[in-house]
Amino acid sequence: MGTLEGKVVIVTGSGSGIGRATAQRVAHEGASVVVADINLAGAEETVALILAEGGAAIAQQADVADESSARAMVEAAVREYGRLDGLHNNAANVFVVPRDTDIVSMDIEVWDASMATNVRGPMLGCKYAIPEMLKVGGGSIVNTSSNAGQMGDLLRVAYGVSKAGVDSLTRYVATMYGKQGVRCNAISPGVVATPALVNNVSQAELDMFEAHHLTPYMGLPEDIAAVVVFLLGADSRFITGQVINVDGGMLAHTPLYQQMRSAMEA
Ligand SMILES: NC(=O)c1ccc[n+]([C@@H]2O[C@H](COP(=O)([O-])OP(=O)(O)OC[C@H]3O[C@@H](n4cnc5c(N)ncnc54)[C@H](O)[C@@H]3O)[C@@H](O)[C@H]2O)c1
Repeated sequence: MGTLEGKVVIVTGSGSGIGRATAQRVAHEGASVVVADINLAGAEETVALILAEGGAAIAQQADVADESSARAMVEAAVREYGRLDGLHNNAANVFVVPRDTDIVSMDIEVWDASMATNVRGPMLGCKYAIPEMLKVGGGSIVNTSSNAGQMGDLLRVAYGVSKAGVDSLTRYVATMYGKQGVRCNAISPGVVATPALVNNVSQAELDMFEAHHLTPYMGLPEDIAAVVVFLLGADSRFITGQVINVDGGMLAHTPLYQQMRSAMEA
């Protein structure tokens, strides 16, 4: 018996990467999954993978930044499976990230698009999911944040600020609906070796990322999925309002860590 047996869970941005791995793991744990993505073909591929493993899932084309689309996504879950217990707000605007540079060069369209998908999206997911969760006595919401929301960097300012917004939204949802049985947490990955990442960065960059992990390896989408499943399920019933770093210790060490290690090993 899986840890999410009988539950109904929406995973946004599950047409690839972390969302796909999470949708697969959620289904493996016994839940029925709504695989929601702006990319319908990707969502359908994820559904095919779940069905092949004997799980239950439907694909739903959804733009999480669009209110009517977010509403339709929740309605699809209830129409198909009769209830809603879990929501993984995982989609982010990955399309504008290459143009997300510094503040002086900031294209306002990039800023607004980042905020629309990364902050408004999770808010809209909560707006329509929470009433359905309240009908069944509660639920669990997990937002995908990022280490980028907790530190400064030389690039991707819109992305980083949007993820700080996700962290704040997490605490507000947990505070506003906790007494009614709705928990809300965020997971904050550092660098996850998704197919999209591995195919788009150089080996030198991958080596640099790995050197700043405290683990001997980088994280995989499955490592994130495992924590999301824990936060969706009853074993985490006393955890809410938290931003949990799932990052191989990327944010746990001194910024001088890598240079110190090199110096000590020399
Ligand atoms: N991969 C990493 O290293 C990393 C690190 C920290 C945080 N994250 C976060 O993890 C989450 C998943 O990212 P990923 O690395 O798996 O990327 P990915 O590109 O593999 O997946 C993102 C998915 O979101 C979908 N999407 C984009 N905009 C959407 C919208 N408006 N509505 C619905 N779906 C939309 C895309 O089509 C895609 O399938 C994101 O929130 C990202 O910010 C990733």
